[in-house]
Amino acid sequence: MTDRAPVLDAVVDLDVPGPTISRHVYGHFAEHLGRCVYEGFWVGEDSDIPNVGGIRTDVVEALRELSIPNLRWPGGCFADTYHWRDGVGPRDERPRIANTHWGDVVEDNSFGTHEFMALCELLGTAPYVSANVGSGSVQETADWVEYLTRGDDAPMARLRREHGREEPWSIALFGIGNEPWGCGGNLRADQFASLARQHATYARDHGDNRLVRIAAGASDDDYAWTETLMQQIASLGDANPRDLFQMISFHFYTFAGTWGDKGSATEFTRDEYWATMRKALDVRRILAGHSAVMDAYDPQAKLGLALDEWGTWWNVEPGTNPGFLYQQNALRDALVASVHFDAFHDHARRLRLANIAQTVNVLQSMLLTDGARMIRTPTFHAFAMSAGHHDATALPVRDVADRARHDVGGTAVPSVSASASTKDGAVLVSLTNLDPDGPATVRIDLRGRAVGSPVATVLTADDPAAHNTFDEPDAVAPRPLDGVRVDDGVLTAELPPAAFATVRLPLA
Ligand code: AHR
Repeated sequence: MTDRAPVLDAVVDLDVPGPTISRHVYGHFAEHLGRCVYEGFWVGEDSDIPNVGGIRTDVVEALRELSIPNLRWPGGCFADTYHWRDGVGPRDERPRIANTHWGDVVEDNSFGTHEFMALCELLGTAPYVSANVGSGSVQETADWVEYLTRGDDAPMARLRREHGREEPWSIALFGIGNEPWGCGGNLRADQFASLARQHATYARDHGDNRLVRIAAGASDDDYAWTETLMQQIASLGDANPRDLFQMISFHFYTFAGTWGDKGSATEFTRDEYWATMRKALDVRRILAGHSAVMDAYDPQAKLGLALDEWGTWWNVEPGTNPGFLYQQNALRDALVASVHFDAFHDHARRLRLANIAQTVNVLQSMLLTDGARMIRTPTFHAFAMSAGHHDATALPVRDVADRARHDVGGTAVPSVSASASTKDGAVLVSLTNLDPDGPATVRIDLRGRAVGSPVATVLTADDPAAHNTFDEPDAVAPRPLDGVRVDDGVLTAELPPAAFATVRLPLA
């Protein structure tokens, strides 16, 4: 440990708790896109790849390490082409359809509602089902909810039983549409708001089941979209017998270039690296912007904000189907994830849900598969290291002095990102050194409570482009971080270049 001046100097008041960080901000997403659902999760019962009822065992076991809180399905853009009845009943009788959004391939519907719910049970995760508003009917939405959640002998409950499932499932998270401004119908905000109100009305609570209805929302910083949705929700007024919506969402992706040329996942310059970090950190501004619009209509924060698609989006790996969105995943991706987590913790009051896109083989994945082989990505490890923040109490990191801002095209990008929370008698501090070219000494004054000895873990490599491959699956993996100490309540750590670290401190 050197005694160089700290890059980050900050204070955390351990006796001033912030809001709860919903575990659901660590949610995931599985779309019928490329090799995510098929090959990634579903290999079929006759596969040589070990599976439980067609769902691959290695993927389930790896994801169980993350305690994933929820899984969004079936899309994405696919959700607005999906008619759920195509995916129930005997598999050999299910219709084949064209997946026109993603690769224009034929979808055989072998993975449908029952298979998704079986997957959620194996993962021990909450299902987040997205209804088709773009090309589906209100009746379809109503029927799907009845099929999933109704216990008596109503028609859809009877149909579910005929398909082999006696008991209704318990489902809370229920999406109304996806990207309605684009692939979800190219609708205007006011048009979508009307449609969403209609679908939400008929997405009923059956028996004891209580839905959390999530209206699809804006792209990036389109606050006007959020404003229209909030107006339309507010205008429902008190005459309404129940609240139609519990959350509204938005999407935000990170890349280094433009939508046309987003950059490579593993071959990038320092300028592209910093451009990526500037973009990722922009999530803070955008979370604040949507929250401010919502605050004006809902000062008590009854309605949650959901960032139900986020993550890095690179040019596809050379030689792969452009419609399959398969990309590698480097240390840089893990750092993009960790700065998002810090922003999520800071916005815990309003942000109740977030879903990284996507879990296996698509965009910023946790896992990559190649036939029977599977590897964990650096992003997987960032999620694993952050699991202690699930449902923890946020501890704001304040009075931050960051002495090493990096100038990215006129924007001062901080070189360190941090957040903290407390749960189960311990404090968890997350620290990211974004600088790929120099270490960062961090000093945090932990006030109000005494803490015991720190245990620190770090995810780093010599190069932010370092990544895991099927031949070298552990090139980027967590290891203990030495030299972290607490003296008189002051935590000091030296982070290697391009590193994500977590420090766990028991409360004395
Ligand atoms: O995650 C990939 C796609 O990105 C989703 O289908 C869509 O909602 C978004 O544009």
